[in-house]
Amino acid sequence: MSHTRIAPSILAADFANLQRDVEMVNNSQADWFHIDIMDGVFVPNISFGMPVLRDIAKHATKTIDVHLMIVDPDRYIKTFASLGANILTVHYEACTHLHRTLQAIKAAGMQAGVALNPHTNISLLEDTIQDIDLVCLMSVNPGFGGQSFIENTYDKVRALKKLIQAKNAPTLIEIDGGVTNKNALLLKEAGADVLVAGSYVFKAENPSETITGLKEIVA
Ligand code: DX5
Ligand code: ZN
Repeated sequence: MSHTRIAPSILAADFANLQRDVEMVNNSQADWFHIDIMDGVFVPNISFGMPVLRDIAKHATKTIDVHLMIVDPDRYIKTFASLGANILTVHYEACTHLHRTLQAIKAAGMQAGVALNPHTNISLLEDTIQDIDLVCLMSVNPGFGGQSFIENTYDKVRALKKLIQAKNAPTLIEIDGGVTNKNALLLKEAGADVLVAGSYVFKAENPSETITGLKEIVA
């Protein structure tokens, strides 16, 4: 069975100690960095932008998974590639020409991800799933860390897994929002491949041990 990846979300890091927190992830059992970019338009919050991503990428030694919560993401695809993103995820709800956007992300040398808001049905990906490297199922409404997990997500993971298998697609399933030790195993059993965890990791007394704990739960 393939291993479940843990992707700490830098949104919950201490931005005045960012290098320390990036090194913590480098030296931990985490698999990826999850980086949330918010524009204050697609979501009601602004996180951080290009200069911060550039400096994180300078220190990060693991895959950089960038989650764009912005309108009109096509404008910035090449920029994010040049800043060091390895995976670029756009929101289904923000893309008028999703197929074109996915091709542009790949042409820029990155893996292409699509995020779905909690209200967006996975059946809308039937015609693009073969072109998608990663689907990010939002298990909270995007915009803020520290929210509680929406239980309907389990059914969505199972339905998405079925679609991926039916189409023989290479797609990974990522879960983003409210991930803790309480739901990690259930998510893995439902079919999740990547678990994003922000507050649960960074607000813990010992973030590195908390990552190890999550890895052990899904091992
Ligand atoms: C929410 C972001 C998440 C967030 C998760 O809009 O996409 O990546 O950082 O944070 P937690 O794990 O605290 O719910
Ligand atoms: Zn995210």
